[in-house]
Amino acid sequence: MTQSVSEAIRRRLDWRSFADSPVPREDVLAVLDAARWAGSGKNSQHWKFILVEGREELRWLAEHAPSGRWLAGAAFAVIVTTDPSFPYHKLDAGRALTYMQLEAWSRGIVSCITTGFDERAIKERYGIPEKRSIDLIAGFGYPDRRLIGRKSRRPLSELAYEGRYGMPLRP
Ligand SMILES: Cc1cc2nc3c(=O)[nH]c(=O)nc-3n(C[C@H](O)[C@H](O)[C@H](O)COP(=O)(O)O)c2cc1C
Repeated sequence: MTQSVSEAIRRRLDWRSFADSPVPREDVLAVLDAARWAGSGKNSQHWKFILVEGREELRWLAEHAPSGRWLAGAAFAVIVTTDPSFPYHKLDAGRALTYMQLEAWSRGIVSCITTGFDERAIKERYGIPEKRSIDLIAGFGYPDRRLIGRKSRRPLSELAYEGRYGMPLRP
């Protein structure tokens, strides 16, 4: 998928149903690698990512993620953990996620995230230290069908002001 960054930002959809085909290792590693190129507060780079592959393991994750049941069909997942002693740690997690999702999209790989999961069970299964935060789990894979659907977004005029809160943007 050759798209400019600008196009990818406007077209990428969060996608939750995946083809049952593996993603080559090279692409999996490129997606993970994209995460570390994101910025983080004070360049602290306190992320730790856990790659999860294998149908049984992904099913286990899905069973422990009430708002991420679709993880069961993903080709791989990435658990994003951060150090919560940084007040901006969730922002750092979100930036790493965005880089991974855009890298994936550029390779024809779709993705979505879940933020609703059993943190305790996941920490135990993957040996994640108690003091770390699990901020999100992203699932990736090839789409199971043609990507249709448009992003539904509010117009810029509803979201952005100019100069002062509530003041409309000039054209
Ligand atoms: C902070 C955050 C939490 C989210 N949590 C979940 C989730 O738990 N489960 C899920 O299926 N999607 C989750 N999503 C995905 C959103 O539903 C999705 O980004 C939104 O519907 C826009 O999708 P679109 O870009 O395809 O239009 C989450 C997204 C964000 C940014």
